[in-house]
Amino acid sequence: MNANRRSFLRNITLGSGVLAASPLFGSNNFSSQNEFDKIRKAAGYNPKMTFNMCGYAAPKLDKVRVGFVGIGDRGSGAVERMTFIEGVEITALCDVRQAAVDGAQKILTEAGLPKAKEYVNGELGFKILCESDDVDLVYICTNWEWHIPVAVAAMEGGKHTAVEVTPAFTMDDCWQIVEVSERTRKHCVILENCCYDFFELLTLNMVRQGMFGDLVHGEGAYIHDLDYWLFNKPKDDKMSDGAYHKMWRMHENKRKANVYPTHGLGPICQAMNINRGDKLEYLTSIMSDDFTLKKRIEEKAREDTFFEQFVGWDMRGNMDIQLIKTNKGRTIMIQHDVSSPRPYSRIHMLSGTKCFAQKWPLQHIAFGHEIADEAKMNELEEKYTPEIVRRVGEMAKKVGGHGGMDFMMDWRLIDCLRNGLPMDMDVYDAATWSCIVPLSEWSIANGSQPIEVPDFTRGAWKTNQPVDITLKGGGTTGVRNLAGSTGKGQLKVN
Ligand SMILES: NC(=O)c1ccc[n+]([C@@H]2O[C@H](COP(=O)([O-])OP(=O)(O)OC[C@H]3O[C@@H](n4cnc5c(N)ncnc54)[C@H](O)[C@@H]3O)[C@@H](O)[C@H]2O)c1
Repeated sequence: MNANRRSFLRNITLGSGVLAASPLFGSNNFSSQNEFDKIRKAAGYNPKMTFNMCGYAAPKLDKVRVGFVGIGDRGSGAVERMTFIEGVEITALCDVRQAAVDGAQKILTEAGLPKAKEYVNGELGFKILCESDDVDLVYICTNWEWHIPVAVAAMEGGKHTAVEVTPAFTMDDCWQIVEVSERTRKHCVILENCCYDFFELLTLNMVRQGMFGDLVHGEGAYIHDLDYWLFNKPKDDKMSDGAYHKMWRMHENKRKANVYPTHGLGPICQAMNINRGDKLEYLTSIMSDDFTLKKRIEEKAREDTFFEQFVGWDMRGNMDIQLIKTNKGRTIMIQHDVSSPRPYSRIHMLSGTKCFAQKWPLQHIAFGHEIADEAKMNELEEKYTPEIVRRVGEMAKKVGGHGGMDFMMDWRLIDCLRNGLPMDMDVYDAATWSCIVPLSEWSIANGSQPIEVPDFTRGAWKTNQPVDITLKGGGTTGVRNLAGSTGKGQLKVN
């Protein structure tokens, strides 16, 4: 771990006086969840003394002043999307690279908006932004190492926060965002854009209207050959040259875990009302060997000495799979593979007692053996397209960002904050979807043994309400015209 991040985490941990050091914190070396809970209690965490954020509606914000931390490829796309949303003021921009901040200022100027305050003060520069008094929401698009330090500093500084995926990578990071969010009563939203894709929203609405009967099984994935991006070395310090800052993704792909579970899992959890009537109980995980990454590194190193630094690294296997059982008896399968030459897929499969839907490789909905034809699909779309798509779907397609889902996610986030509504993807979802990383790592390392998924809601899942997809109490936020759009979205894909 980077020395700056380590000392920052140590300080905030001691400062909050809650999550004291223990041999198990920050590692995944636990054999049972009860063991882990005992240690958390011994460390002084008292769930009874904290506030539960399930269904929490923060006071309304007429204007949402947004500060961005991490303005690389993804962050610059987010800055641009936010320029189209009414009620947003972009007041702060933070990155370790001046070029990244300059690029974001240019986006603001081209959109006819005032420049934002700049925070370019090294790796801990975000702390000053998080303590400032002109930011309501800290939007985090750094590489993974900095997600939790920034999110915690933002909430401690009295700001809501929204964190790119995957938000957290260890169990104590998962519990820490829950503890800090509850204590500060600030939202910690997971920016899982795939929950807002068109087919995912259509099928979610169909589930809600009873079209699937009982949901029995769901499958999701992140299958994406990242060869081009993993091996794209940074060219210079210019913004968004398409390379990962300091080759961070290569480093993260040493870990033998599903490090990117939320694109596949998020939409399935929303359809199954996980943390809102059902909960994840336990999982088991398996990983193939690595058949490509090590060889590709050697191949690249022969072409370019830059890649010699990675030779001999023990990389993750190509495919890892998780099987999860829910409290209500449902099953979920998640897959993750970023290094096999094959077409992109998040699967997004929902299987119920009355209906079946799958998005990849070929999108279809079926009732029994009958696959819906074009006319039937049109009829279903006409009837079950949810309100958010009717309201901003066309605009979302024009603004862009993975075909529009990124914009719908941002618009909904801002609309909820402006109308004082609970979050679609709250801190418990952020923790639950993230904890697949350490749990899968543990199961893979222990012969695929099952391991419990903690209940971050601590019982509130039984009464917590499903995500609202009717825009009840909201939907009041307008969108700005497209005059300033470059239409470029982002260079890399999700
Ligand atoms: N939801 C999606 O579809 C999607 C798509 C792409 C990326 N992402 C996520 O977005 C995040 C960023 O990915 P990216 O592709 O933009 O990576 P990137 O490397 O292009 O950008 C990371 C940025 O963070 C900055 N940074 C690093 N440390 C910092 C610090 N301490 N303080 C401030 N800035 C710092 C870097 O300078 C860089 O500009 C990751 O979490 C990634 O998983 C999500």
